[in-house]
Amino acid sequence: MTIAGLGAYLPERVVTNDDLAAAGLDTSDAWIRSRTGIAQRHYAAPEQATSDLAVEAGKAALADAGLGTDDVAAVIVATTTPDHMVPGTAPLVAAALGTEVGAFDVQAACSGFVYALRVGAALTVAEDAPVLVIGAETLSRIIDPTDRGVSILFGDGAGAVVLVPDANGSLGPFSLGADGRDPSMLWTQTGGTRTPVSHDVVDARTHFLTMRGGDVYRNAVARMTAASRDVLEQAGRTIDDVDLFVGHQANVRILDAVAQRVGIEAARCHVTVDQHGNTSAASVPLALADARDRGRLHPGDTVLLTAFGAGLTWGACLLTWNPSPTRDES
Ligand code: COA
Repeated sequence: MTIAGLGAYLPERVVTNDDLAAAGLDTSDAWIRSRTGIAQRHYAAPEQATSDLAVEAGKAALADAGLGTDDVAAVIVATTTPDHMVPGTAPLVAAALGTEVGAFDVQAACSGFVYALRVGAALTVAEDAPVLVIGAETLSRIIDPTDRGVSILFGDGAGAVVLVPDANGSLGPFSLGADGRDPSMLWTQTGGTRTPVSHDVVDARTHFLTMRGGDVYRNAVARMTAASRDVLEQAGRTIDDVDLFVGHQANVRILDAVAQRVGIEAARCHVTVDQHGNTSAASVPLALADARDRGRLHPGDTVLLTAFGAGLTWGACLLTWNPSPTRDES
């Protein structure tokens, strides 16, 4: 299979580092830029939830592929910020797009899109039909606006791809991994079934996202590096064969450290974290769409994707940019 269409959606409202400081957060543009590379992020409008962002990205990807909703065999939404705990977000997205095909969420936090691509790729082959894979997040709803260590990092957005059958198989290999021994490294402690939401929970503000930044940083670098090396080894290729490296856009220093360890120079890396912040499961497809829009993706290019997130989860894959595949009709 291959990627036949790519779509992106960013909410209109742009929040700069200065906006956060002006709103009363004890931080500065200089601190945020020097520690993270982030200059701004987008926040959803009050009436928008994750499914609304996902629908816009999904429509754009379908239009880019020249396909209609009726052509799609399944809708997968990678998100860690669903509209509701129940039901999943994907059925809402599928309904808004006007289809009753199978629709389900993938929850692998910031690695969600790479996981969803893996699942979507398998479904595309099994169904021999296109599958819509969306990464969408509204992180602004789960961050504590008074927590300067976390709230500066995240933004909202959605990116989507349409996977279609392609005999040349230009997506893969994949490498996925998880280590759930210490979920508290990056989590929302309460609000789930272990500690349901209550007045106490809200008073203690533990329903917001919290993390141990240094531990997350070190693990992100190590895991994305290892996953990237693994897919190259599986493919029998080297980093010299990679035309563009698109890593999870968490922090420019993390991206630089991974790039340096896998041996790829800045000119072959695509960075959007300065403009988008960390959009979790949306970050990789948003970055891919941005790379395409800036003329950085050419037919035949080899692209290395990698991501890391809460769980811990991580993943990587290779893809050959081949937006107009020759369908094998045999
Ligand atoms: N503005 C100003 N100062 C801040 C700040 C902010 N937004 N956030 C934290 N600080 C302060 C801390 O309070 C601390 O002050 P102290 O020394 O007086 O105690 C100081 O800056 C250093 O804090 P520290 O947490 O050690 O900074 P850091 O260099 O590790 O950077 C992160 C913090 C969050 C930027 C960094 O750890 C990081 O990027 N981690 C990974 C986060 C991530 O990517 N998560 C998602 C992964 S999917």
